[in-house]
Parts: sequence; C-alpha cells; structure tokens
Amino acid sequence: MLVDKFNRSFPYLRLSITEVCNFSCDYCLPDGYQKTGNENFLGQDEINRLVNAFVGLGVWKIRLTGGEPTIRKDFTQIAKMIADKPEIETMAFTTNGYRLKERAQEWFDAGLNAINISIDSLNAKKFHQITGHNRMQEVRDGIDKALEVGFKKVKINVVLLKGVNDDELDSYLEYVRDTPVSVRYIELMQTGDNLTYFNKFHLSSDHVKDQLLDRGWVENIRNVGDGPAVNFTHSDFQGSIGLIAPYSKDFCTGCNRLRITSSGDLRLCLFGNVGIPLRHMLQSDEQKDDLMAAIRKQLEYKASSHFLNDGDTGIMTNLSSTGG
Ligand code: 5AD
Ligand code: SF4
Repeated sequence: MLVDKFNRSFPYLRLSITEVCNFSCDYCLPDGYQKTGNENFLGQDEINRLVNAFVGLGVWKIRLTGGEPTIRKDFTQIAKMIADKPEIETMAFTTNGYRLKERAQEWFDAGLNAINISIDSLNAKKFHQITGHNRMQEVRDGIDKALEVGFKKVKINVVLLKGVNDDELDSYLEYVRDTPVSVRYIELMQTGDNLTYFNKFHLSSDHVKDQLLDRGWVENIRNVGDGPAVNFTHSDFQGSIGLIAPYSKDFCTGCNRLRITSSGDLRLCLFGNVGIPLRHMLQSDEQKDDLMAAIRKQLEYKASSHFLNDGDTGIMTNLSSTGG
C-alpha cells in the first residue's frame, strides 16, 4: 500500500480521461470547453498500464473523471477494462448526468458501481443558469434510472454558491427523504481561472452545517479511511448530506487519493505545484516496475496540506483538467 510521510494511505486513484466537457458551469468552464491543443489524451493501453501499476501499489478504488468522462467514445470499454480487474472493488465515475438515463444500464453492466452526479440546483432555471444547459429534470431522471438499474453508491455534488443556491437546503432534504443518495455540498474552490467568481460566490459550508444541526441532523463519527467529506444523517431520511470544506483546518488529514491528468501527469494534490509526467513510462508493459518505483518516490514529496488559504491554487487553472 502507498503511504506518505504523514501516514496517510492512498487506496484511491482519480483518473481524468478527457478535459473536454459539454457543459459550461460558471465556476469551471464559463465559456465552455476551449481547445488547448492538448487533446491527445491517454489511450486505452496507456490507461491499462497505469492502472496495473497502481493496483500493484494497493489501489482498489478508481474514479473516472474529466472534463466529462462519458464524452469519450470508448468510455464504457475503459470502465470495463478496469472494473474487470479483480483487485478493483470500487469502480466509480463523476458525470454531469448527460445521457445518464439512456446509458445507466450499459455503464452498470460494464462494472461501474459508484457514481457522482452534479446538480448545483434543484430549480430548473437556476440549473440552466449555472451549467448553460436546461437539463435539470433530465439529470434527475438519470439518477432515478441509475438507482433502478442497481447503482448502490450514488452521490450528488452541489457546489455551494452564495446568493445562488444557498437557500435550497430544504429542497435537497426533501429529495433525500425517500431517495437513498448522498448529497454533498462542496465549497467553491479557488482555481487559477476563477478568482473574481470565487470572491463573489464562495460561502463557508458552516452555513449548511448550522442548518443541518438545527434540523436534528447528526454528524457521523469519522472512520479511518474516510475521505475528506464530513457526513450527516437523520433517521427520518434515507439519504445523507455531506460537506466538503477544503478551507477547513483538518481537510487534508483525510486525504486518501492521488490524481492523474488526462495527459498522464501524476498530481499529488488538486492544488499542488507539480505535475509529474508518467506518460513516457506507459509505453510498454516492461516499464511497470520503473513506473511503480517512480510513483512511490513521488509520494515522498506529497505535502501535508494545500496552500489555498494563502491564495495559492497551484498549477490547476480549472477542474476540467484534473477532475473533481
Ligand atoms: N469548486 C468546487 N467544486 C468544483 N467542481 C468543479 N469546479 C469546482 C470548483 N472550482 C465540481 C463540480 C463537480 C465536480 C467534478 O467538481 O461541480 O461536481
Ligand atoms: Fe463540465 Fe464538470 Fe466543469 Fe461543469 S464542473 S463545466 S460539468 S467539467
């Protein structure tokens, strides 16, 4: 198992397979995806070698992310290739929900078993405003379909935005009353691209926490191996609510994940200042030992925390390159 010098272990890899996205969320790609000339994303063979090395290092959970990972024509094949490995217990993906309703069955059959879907507002108009797409109902239907075909781990991501969706907690609570999903409020993060937006719309997740406590929700005790989210439950509700607060003091102590960009750079932290290229070590199966050694070596440099509170967002310009 990969362990760093702060005794954190890393069973979880987030693998971005494309930067391209068909949505234009205000905080991420307000003008939609613009070509960068960098669209030569990792191919299936490269992904396979990469995953084999991480499996060799003890990884058992992989998330496919992007951009919008399902945009790739070979998304289902990639998912199946990874899910078929006996060591992989959790095969997850993050999606904006586009075509989820039509494809949930196909994806479940491929071996995907956990899904994160973004719905930043349950108000159709606001959803349209934020994402550039009038598809709130369609995405909700997709979630129903995902549950119906058998996905057990379904999470809904909501980026908390001051003055935009900070009055919607009760709508989300109504939603989780009878729907067994975990709604996760994510505090808006500053990225290289969005400083003005960040200053205008960032709101601490304490805003949600206070309301949850008022309404009788209980903060779950954290277990070793839990990620950075803090979870709340209530016996009258089937679903749960999580808070992801990257600016909070202990956020990074729960870090359990490493990231790979769509062009094969290892990122030790979403907000780190280094991306270590691995692609040249993904060109033949014989490179596996070197690759594993390189990853292990890099982990020695993983810092205890990000430097967001100093306004240092690292090299990431927006989340479409590294994935959320
Ligand atoms: N701050 C917080 N969350 C973000 N996401 C994308 N950009 C940001 C940001 N700047 C979220 C998306 C999605 C997940 C992939 O990451 O809303 O839920
Ligand atoms: Fe696309 Fe996700 Fe970025 Fe929205 S947050 S523009 S869905 S990559």
